[in-house]
Amino acid sequence: MTDNPHIQDLIAMRRRTFLGALTAMPFLTLEEADAQSAGLSFQSLPPDKTDVVTVPQGYRVQTLIGWGDPLFENVAPFNPDALTRADQETRFGQNNDMLALFPGRHAFPRPTNQNRLLLCANHEYFDAALTFPAARRKADIDAPKMEALYAAMGVSVVQVEKNRRNDWRVIRDARPGAGLNRRITPFTPVRFEGPAKDHRWIAAASAPLATPDDAVSCGTMANCSGGQTPWGTYLSCEENFNNYVVSNDANAAALAPAQADAPWMWAAGNFDYPLYNARRDATVPRQFDIAQNPYMPALYGWVVEIDPYDPTWAPRKRTALGRVKHECATTALTRDGRVAVYMGDDQIDECVYKFVTRDRFDPRERTANRDLLNEGKLYVARFNEDGTGAWVALTAEAANAAAPPYAAPFADDGDVAIRAREAARFLGATPMDRPEDVEAIIDANWVGQGQVLVSCTYNRNEHAARPGNPRRVGGGDVQPNHGGHILKIEEAGGDCGGETFRWDVFALGGDPDAPDAAITAADGSRAYLSVKQNGVPANTGARFACPDNICFDDAKNVWIATDGSPAVFGDCNDSVLVTPTTGAGPRPIKRFLIGPIGCEICGPTVAPDQRAFLAAIQHPGEDDEHGNSYVGARWSDPDRKPPSSFPDGAGAWPRSAVVVVTRTDGGIVGT
Ligand code: FEO
Ligand code: CA
Ligand code: CA
Ligand code: CA
Repeated sequence: MTDNPHIQDLIAMRRRTFLGALTAMPFLTLEEADAQSAGLSFQSLPPDKTDVVTVPQGYRVQTLIGWGDPLFENVAPFNPDALTRADQETRFGQNNDMLALFPGRHAFPRPTNQNRLLLCANHEYFDAALTFPAARRKADIDAPKMEALYAAMGVSVVQVEKNRRNDWRVIRDARPGAGLNRRITPFTPVRFEGPAKDHRWIAAASAPLATPDDAVSCGTMANCSGGQTPWGTYLSCEENFNNYVVSNDANAAALAPAQADAPWMWAAGNFDYPLYNARRDATVPRQFDIAQNPYMPALYGWVVEIDPYDPTWAPRKRTALGRVKHECATTALTRDGRVAVYMGDDQIDECVYKFVTRDRFDPRERTANRDLLNEGKLYVARFNEDGTGAWVALTAEAANAAAPPYAAPFADDGDVAIRAREAARFLGATPMDRPEDVEAIIDANWVGQGQVLVSCTYNRNEHAARPGNPRRVGGGDVQPNHGGHILKIEEAGGDCGGETFRWDVFALGGDPDAPDAAITAADGSRAYLSVKQNGVPANTGARFACPDNICFDDAKNVWIATDGSPAVFGDCNDSVLVTPTTGAGPRPIKRFLIGPIGCEICGPTVAPDQRAFLAAIQHPGEDDEHGNSYVGARWSDPDRKPPSSFPDGAGAWPRSAVVVVTRTDGGIVGT
């Protein structure tokens, strides 16, 4: 908990304090808003709950690759019940999340005319209940199966190709090592770089996992969203890594020094290591057991840089970007050619971060940028109630000056990076409603235009002790934020290197037709779903909730993927919505894609030539069409079939998969 004002309070305060100013803002009339959305020519989809990917008329859907599909020739047909770590290391991973497309041959600025592309996808998590069709009891998940599950996380690099008809296909390599296709898993050797690379926690945790050439075989896991750099590398984020750490002996002697280490105990509470609620699971590989290796959680919670063009270059953990539950790491060049990286820490009441490199991007020599993300300034966002904001630099000097007497001093900037959440709080960072994607609009030369959207997915807590909330009706009634919202940051001087900004609400999750007052949700709780601000809707058109990952197309439309919307609007599966970012509000929102049953949508991305939209369909079948958890009931009812058969249909076991959506006339998507 923190005493810093929460973003909800700031939005509500702003609403009261600046009522006059806000009503004077150039909101468009509804007719003008409709004219503005005319650039988006597709017919907005009505809600649906079918078990397919639904797209507007004039579009078609291809499944490009899914969990278990081979990356190499001569790989046996996929049999999930026979899955081993070695087998999974030859196949596309589970629960695909962030997608990034790179040209087959790197060039800068990014070429739009190549038919051969490299696809990077990361794999967030595993779920035994949706992995082994023949398993009947949790106890059927033995150690080899558990090891296979860990290998289903990480990253896949895969070459893809599209033909003149815009049919997309995967290109398999003859065998591992023969080409660029590869898997990176929680067992792959990686290197730590940046200010925390020699931090005592990382040194202690790395020792048992060191390889002969001084890499660390801890790989990467819990890979949520990420980003890509202008020099053609992929940034994969490590989010809920604590879920994959066990403690098989809460009284292990090895734990004693860590438990006497005050900042480590602070981190243990903050990130929820299995210390207080010890999780025992003897089937989990020993390297993920803190009773064996107490500091091992310090190996995760980082942004990992991967070079898809060079399989010999070990993935780099970029400690300069701080250690949090990273959702994203999206990049934009500053006006003077340095690199800004925007990051959300996806947990309730956590913060938004930015890193700006010390040195400039070199557009001529790709590999000259390999150390760029090691040196620079790490900032955290402070949103002020008057609509201004500041990027507060996280340095040891500043953090020590601001720290309360009970805090352990920060030894150096590396210590600040590894304890970034602590430093952020002391320096007055603003807690947010689960910040997911944070992304700047960039031009064809990757230069940020200063406009940044921040997607806050939801916060069902009622901030009773706090005086504000954007959906508050008045009279002190404090609302939970079921719908989530998207904020817009305008960087000072239109420069992503700026240290101050202005901010406002870009869109509110909810229903443009909902009343201002509370309605009763399916579970009997009250929910407020109005999208009005000061009596004026922030957005019109399709209703949605729980915005998560976003992307921009070249026409500056934003594509918004949702995660958890069916818990708010039960008549529609998770979806992709599109709205222009140009012009003033209210934002006219159209529903472009609806996922199959029980999924969330991740990894929205528009192909470089703008003629395809890609998304990662994650965990189809996790819930049924009524919102009841299938995975929660799996072991008590092993005969029950999953509620989704996506993508193979006809009762097949569901698989997460990448879909490609194109126009049947070959045109630019969206327009
Ligand atoms: Fe893994 Fe923040 O979604
Ligand atoms: Ca997810
Ligand atoms: Ca996400
Ligand atoms: Ca999410």
